[in-house]
Amino acid sequence: MGTRSRSACAFLSFPLLLYFLTIPSECATDTLTHSQPIAIGQTLISAGEVFELGFFSPGNSSKLYIGLWYKNITVRKIVWVANRENPLPATDSASSLIIGSDGNLRLLDGMRNTFWSTNISLASNNTVAVLLDKGDFVLKDNVSGFITWESFDYPCDTFLADMMIGLNTKTGEKHFLSSWETDSDPSPGKFVLGLTPETPPQLFLWNSSKPYWRGGPWNGWTFIGIPNIGQGYVNGLILISDNEQGTAYLTFSTYNISYVIMNVLAPTGTLKTMNWDEEKSVWFVSWVAVVNPCDIYGVCGPFGVCSNRNGSPICECLKGFVPKSTEDWSKGNWTGGCVRRTELLCQKNISSLANGTAQNDGFWKLSGLKLPDHFEYLFNQDYSGCQQWCVSNCSCVAYAYVTGIACMVWAEDLVDVQQFSIDGNDLFLRLAYSELGIDHKKSEKITIIFTTISGVILLAAFMFGLHRWRANQRVKRRKRIKGFGWGDRLDMLRDPSQDNVWVDHATHSESSELPMLDFDKVTCIYVVTKKVCGPQGKLEGGQEAAVKRLSIHSGQGAEEFKNEIKLISKLQHRNLVRLLGYCIDGEEKLLVYEYMTNRSLDTFLFDAKKRMQLDWAKRFNIIQGIARGILYLHRDSCLRVIHRDLKASNILLDDDMNPKISDFGLARTFQLTQELANTHRVMGTFGYMSPEYAMGGLFSEKSDVFSFGVLLLEIVSGTRNTSLHYNEKYLNLLGYAWQLCNKNRELELMDEAMAYSCSRSEVMRCIHIGLLCVQDHAADRPTMSAVVLMLSSEMDLPQPKQPTFTIQSLSDADLLSLHNKLCSMNAVSVSIIEGR
Ligand SMILES: *[C@@H]1O[C@H](CO)[C@@H](O)[C@H](O)[C@H]1NC(C)=O
Ligand SMILES: *[C@@H]1O[C@H](CO)[C@@H](O)[C@H](O)[C@H]1NC(C)=O
Ligand SMILES: *[C@@H]1O[C@H](CO)[C@@H](O)[C@H](O)[C@H]1NC(C)=O
Ligand SMILES: *[C@@H]1O[C@H](CO)[C@@H](O)[C@H](O)[C@H]1NC(C)=O
Ligand SMILES: *[C@@H]1O[C@H](CO)[C@@H](O)[C@H](O)[C@H]1NC(C)=O
Ligand SMILES: *[C@@H]1O[C@H](CO)[C@@H](O)[C@H](O)[C@H]1NC(C)=O
Ligand SMILES: *[C@@H]1O[C@H](CO)[C@@H](O)[C@H](O)[C@H]1NC(C)=O
Ligand SMILES: *[C@@H]1O[C@H](CO)[C@@H](O)[C@H](O)[C@H]1NC(C)=O
Ligand SMILES: *[C@@H]1O[C@H](CO)[C@@H](O)[C@H](O)[C@H]1NC(C)=O
Ligand SMILES: *[C@@H]1O[C@H](CO)[C@@H](O)[C@H](O)[C@H]1NC(C)=O
Ligand SMILES: *[C@@H]1O[C@H](CO)[C@@H](O)[C@H](O)[C@H]1NC(C)=O
Repeated sequence: MGTRSRSACAFLSFPLLLYFLTIPSECATDTLTHSQPIAIGQTLISAGEVFELGFFSPGNSSKLYIGLWYKNITVRKIVWVANRENPLPATDSASSLIIGSDGNLRLLDGMRNTFWSTNISLASNNTVAVLLDKGDFVLKDNVSGFITWESFDYPCDTFLADMMIGLNTKTGEKHFLSSWETDSDPSPGKFVLGLTPETPPQLFLWNSSKPYWRGGPWNGWTFIGIPNIGQGYVNGLILISDNEQGTAYLTFSTYNISYVIMNVLAPTGTLKTMNWDEEKSVWFVSWVAVVNPCDIYGVCGPFGVCSNRNGSPICECLKGFVPKSTEDWSKGNWTGGCVRRTELLCQKNISSLANGTAQNDGFWKLSGLKLPDHFEYLFNQDYSGCQQWCVSNCSCVAYAYVTGIACMVWAEDLVDVQQFSIDGNDLFLRLAYSELGIDHKKSEKITIIFTTISGVILLAAFMFGLHRWRANQRVKRRKRIKGFGWGDRLDMLRDPSQDNVWVDHATHSESSELPMLDFDKVTCIYVVTKKVCGPQGKLEGGQEAAVKRLSIHSGQGAEEFKNEIKLISKLQHRNLVRLLGYCIDGEEKLLVYEYMTNRSLDTFLFDAKKRMQLDWAKRFNIIQGIARGILYLHRDSCLRVIHRDLKASNILLDDDMNPKISDFGLARTFQLTQELANTHRVMGTFGYMSPEYAMGGLFSEKSDVFSFGVLLLEIVSGTRNTSLHYNEKYLNLLGYAWQLCNKNRELELMDEAMAYSCSRSEVMRCIHIGLLCVQDHAADRPTMSAVVLMLSSEMDLPQPKQPTFTIQSLSDADLLSLHNKLCSMNAVSVSIIEGR
């Protein structure tokens, strides 16, 4: 899956000699139409001459298939097959691929029998099939351009860039890779690669639906069970999941289109990343899975750990465990696994506990592991909560706290554990006291040892009492708090059973400049309406305030939280929302901000009527204000804050429509920030995230510059970056803006609602600056100080580079109809400007 080279490089020589029936056709086309079917000997060639589609026979088979391959690559690899299960007989030279009268693609033999069909119900029969440069064969409506079917939704054994592998748990729809049966038979083989429906999803390879290999859960930039795969940009992998929709899809991107790379699931069950080496004319295998015996799922049985050291046996028992059957184990039959040597105290009968001298169980830390399968995910526990949960539940065998994932606990047998020599995670394993080896070797590390049993019982009783008391308190309070709003990621995730660790710190707080408000004094009247940007509240004196609730999985204690908030309250600038105070109550952490009557920018910008209130002068003022606010955060403040979630809904507007950035420094309070660091949980909002952040979690001030660029283009156009859908699927505002700008037609991007009030040169300048800010490479983007300067002066601007998101290039006619479509979306504004 990775593009990173391994030291042990392998060169692939295909045993399969593909016999091609194709002869070069003179008038190559990428489109199959009703009147232009393809017959044996003819092919479709994508517009950029990257891929070719036609009839072929694999290996030494003589059967005929329709398939897809790289056109210019001499060592042919079929990347997709249409009629995998239904080959045409070799003798049939009159076969053809056509568009049927119902608009579906159809593969016919000489007798006009259908051997394969796209078989979907179509609204119109006016369809064409186009082979795209990324290797996607699409069936689309010739008039609307709407894609009704695409080969990317029916993967075979090859995972190409931009393809999505994954599943929808609600509809049960799966897009998984499946191997060929043999090199000469493309029908679905035994091996299937896909994602599991759990959270976070795991990458899995099955052999006849039995687990065969496990890549482990996704941590935001990689699968943690795959060592040395590289991160972010390097592996190129992106996992797009939507819990609400129940979808999780894995995709990858190549930054350089001329770099040919694909992942292939071979009929033998190995998974390879293959790159084409043009110079040597070979496929170069840069990464491969399931070659090492430890890769095979559960090879060492329950509680066994596989390590790939030369010479020594590959399976060992986890610490504190012994082979279930010494005889089997010594013969190298590890499937029985291991069993606990000493019973856990918490599993013993109460009668034996009366002894009083018994020492309680502890946890042993194992490092550098591929964590076991069958975990339970406790998304709302921070590190100490995770530990507590496992300590207090005897069925918890082990726990781990992984950056980018959070708390994982195990209540079943630990299977598929591997010892890595690089990377890997820490696992805390529950063991009986005597297994911890405290008496014998004091130097060995022990993580937690609990007091004597009587102490535990007392503590438990106390905790139970406290819990009951707090639960009562909470029930009382919940009657007052009705709901919450404001933003997608501030979801309230709470577990009432979790008791809170830092209430004491909070109530005994020393005084500070920033008031810590008593929770009960903020009579929080939450407004659940979606349009309201935040819950409103009133402070005791009647002062209006906006209240923002922080998500529970911020992984932070009260003391740290308070320190962060105090630091952030020192940030004061006219373009930042002022923090009035905060409340901590149990798990609830609330931030109290000054109240903004005009709410947030998005409520104006994307509303057909309210956008009229934003004339060009106001918009330009907003743009400049945001730029100055960000510059202050980046450069002039004491803290150097990177916002990381700049978007229209985080820009609040005061009575005079002055912009105030909100949520700044929230990234700090979430304790995920390290300067120029790699964060493991990408927290931003799609559409505003820079490529290096979205894909690799790499962020810097330049990621904010990117978001600012998007925001700027949205303000000028009155259109959301992500709201454009035109003909092909992946067009966004940035691509549209770039193409208009490239044709010197950037004024067409302008929101018609402000056409009467605008300064054309300022608008053009702003679009130009916006495009400079959204360039792919962080180094190409200007700094915020340069942006502020560009906005306020007449200096010459450099030429922006094309963003790679614009995969499709639009013709002039396309641009015109897109423009018309946008205008009709904003019908209200069009009627107003007619008199201009
Ligand atoms: C493939 O080869 C043709 C002719 O040699 C050339 O025009 C085309 O650009 C090549 N395509 C790619 C993707 O290199
Ligand atoms: C194809 O070749 C393989 C060995 O490469 C052989 O086992 C198989 O029988 C052959 N199949 C046919 C149909 O000739
Ligand atoms: C599409 O359907 C109409 C009738 O519904 C038919 O007259 C026409 O020939 C069909 N077009 C094609 C390309 O099959
Ligand atoms: C087409 O789909 C229908 C159900 O949607 C199914 O009954 C039929 O067998 C399919 N036909 C082909 C040729 O796959
Ligand atoms: C598809 O549309 C284009 C232009 O809109 C037209 O030239 C072409 O003939 C159409 N193709 C078919 C098969 O209808
Ligand atoms: C896959 O499973 C089958 C049995 O279902 C087994 O015979 C075969 O050896 C397995 N393949 C590999 C590569 O382990
Ligand atoms: C893409 O890769 C090719 C060959 O590896 C190289 O010549 C070219 O400069 C690269 N393009 C970019 C934009 O990095
Ligand atoms: C390995 O051990 C298991 C029981 O632990 C047994 O069922 C299995 O038959 C053994 N396999 C071999 C090859 O001996
Ligand atoms: C617990 O003790 C009772 C009797 O004292 C015995 O019947 C039972 O089997 C014991 N349970 C375990 C798990 O040892
Ligand atoms: C009490 O503990 C001692 C030492 O750990 C042990 O020898 C003895 O059997 C225990 N007694 C009971 C009733 O479990
Ligand atoms: C202990 O853990 C098991 C397994 O996760 C769970 O089913 C059970 O409800 C937990 N018990 C308590 C008291 O939390």
